[in-house]
Amino acid sequence: MVRLDNIIQALSMKCPLNRCRFTDLCLRISERCLNVISFRDVYTSKDAAEILYELLAERTPEQNISHKRMPSFKEHLDFLARRPYQNWYLIDDADGVTVGSIYLTFEREIGLFLFQSAQRKGYGSIALAKMKELHPGPLFANISPRNKVSQLFFLNHGFELIQHTFRLG
Ligand SMILES: CC(C)(COP(=O)(O)OP(=O)(O)OC[C@H]1O[C@@H](n2cnc3c(N)ncnc32)[C@H](O)[C@@H]1OP(=O)(O)O)[C@@H](O)C(=O)NCCC(=O)NCCS
Repeated sequence: MVRLDNIIQALSMKCPLNRCRFTDLCLRISERCLNVISFRDVYTSKDAAEILYELLAERTPEQNISHKRMPSFKEHLDFLARRPYQNWYLIDDADGVTVGSIYLTFEREIGLFLFQSAQRKGYGSIALAKMKELHPGPLFANISPRNKVSQLFFLNHGFELIQHTFRLG
């Protein structure tokens, strides 16, 4: 089967995002493109805790803003039970395999984390577009200064740098 993301790649164009070079074509396929993935509510999905714990374990030091140690599974469950984010989804691919997670805080900060095996395949771009569609309004992303890949990702998707945050202690 020819996958939509392969076709997009072949045309060397991007999904329904700001810097699309083939706007008309892109708009026509954007709806289908967004359907390449689906969102599943973390708070009501039984397998969410295990999947998110695996995802957390994959985080590299440069992806963390605060130098936090890996929490125990119990601490992780307590965190989930507090419903820390306004919206929190698992991102499933077309085969129903979870490729990552995306959340929106009450301050409209976005957090997007994909399994390493799912990165650089367009899922991040599509998930961001889907999130914008589901929750219209301004979005913010707090990225560690060491996380150059993510900085590039958000800059390439229309975000602009608005502040540097410093911490003491
Ligand atoms: C950042 C992240 C969400 C991007 O998602 P992705 O699906 O890998 O990205 P896409 O395939 O949609 O790539 C789109 C753009 O992202 C940037 N990008 C992604 N991976 C990159 C890499 N390894 N090196 C350089 N740029 C990269 C590029 O701008 C790329 O555009 P290009 O292909 O024209 O160069 C994903 O890499 C990830 O989960 N990283 C770890 C978690 C993290 O750091 N999250 C940020 C905190 S919110």
